[in-house]
Amino acid sequence: MLSSITCTAPVNIATIKYWGKRDEKLILPLNSSLSGTLHQDDLKTTTTAVASENFTEDAIWLNGKKEDINTTRYQNVLRMIRSRATKLMDKKHFVHICSINNFPTAAGLASSASGYACLVYVLAQLYGVSGDISAIARIGSGSACRSVYGGFVKWEMGAESDGSDSIAVQVAPETHWPEMNIIVLVVNDKKKETSSTDGMQRSAATSPMMKERCATIVPQRMRDIEAAIQARDFQTFGDITMKDSDDFHEVCATTDPAIYYLNDTSRYIMNLVHKYNKMSGKIKCAYTFDAGPNACIYLPEENVVEALALFTKHFPGSDLSTYYRGSDKSNIEKIEHYQ
Ligand code: PMV
Repeated sequence: MLSSITCTAPVNIATIKYWGKRDEKLILPLNSSLSGTLHQDDLKTTTTAVASENFTEDAIWLNGKKEDINTTRYQNVLRMIRSRATKLMDKKHFVHICSINNFPTAAGLASSASGYACLVYVLAQLYGVSGDISAIARIGSGSACRSVYGGFVKWEMGAESDGSDSIAVQVAPETHWPEMNIIVLVVNDKKKETSSTDGMQRSAATSPMMKERCATIVPQRMRDIEAAIQARDFQTFGDITMKDSDDFHEVCATTDPAIYYLNDTSRYIMNLVHKYNKMSGKIKCAYTFDAGPNACIYLPEENVVEALALFTKHFPGSDLSTYYRGSDKSNIEKIEHYQ
C-alpha cells in the first residue's frame, strides 16, 4: 500500500524576534515572539510525503537535492509524529519526503519556518496525528511553530521544562486586518554565513543586551503589539516592529564575535523608511530584518503604491516583491491525498 499527501505552508515574518534558547534540545526560547503569516500563494513551501511498506529507509529531498535525514531535528520530528500516530501502525512503513521552496532557502527569508511547518503538517496528515502540532514544528525549527497558524501568531515561550506550554497561539485571524501588506525587498538571496542556531547560541552566551531584552523589553513589547493588532493601530505596530528589528541586530552586533546580518543596502532601506515616515508625519511603512540582509516591509494597503514607487525609484531593476497577507488562505493547506 502507498499513501501520499501534499501540503503547502507559508512563511511567517516576525515583528517581535525570537533569538536565544533556554533549551537547545527541546528548542525552548528565551523570549516569546510574534509574527504575521503570509498568504498561501506567496513565499511558501510545498511538501509531499509518501509512505510505503516497500521503502527500505526514510529519505528527504529539499529543492531536488537529497538531504541527510539522520539529523537530530528530522529524527526528533519523525519520532514525535510516529509516537502520536493513529494511521500506518500495522506494518513498518518508511517515508519519502520531497520539499520545495518557491523562494531562496536559508537566506534569512524564514525558509525553515515554512519548511518545518509544512513537513510536520504533511506527516501529521499521513500518520493521522491530531491536536496541536505546533510543538512538533517547534522541535524542527523554533519559528516554524508560528507558521502552523494563519493571521498574527504568537509563540508563547512557556515555563515548563518539558516544553508542553511552549506553543503557538493565534492572536488574530487572517481576516482581522486584511489591509495589512508585506513588501519583501530581496537584497541578497545567498545562504547566510552564520546560521540562526549558531548565532543564537553565541548571543545568549555573550551579548550584554540579552538579559534586559528577555526580562523586560520583549514582555512589554508583546503586550503592546498584541493590543495594537487588536486595535488595528498601525502607528504602534510599526514603531514596535522597527524597534525590535533594530534591537535584534544590535544584540547580534554586541555578540562576541559580532554577527552582522545587515549590509549597506539594508541600512539604506532603513534610512529611506525613516525619512519617508518623517516626511509623511506618520509611520507609513515599517521595516523588519531577520537573520539576513533582506527587508520585509509591513504597511497598510493604502500605502503600497506610494511605497513601491519609492523603493523602485531608489532600487531600479531590483527584485521587489509584494506579498499580501490577510486573506483566508494564509493557513496551511492540504492539496492532495492519495491512499
Ligand atoms: O527558527 P529559526 O531557528 O530559523 O530562528 C529564526 C530567528 C529569526 O528569524 C531571526 C526571528 C524569528 O522570530 O523568526
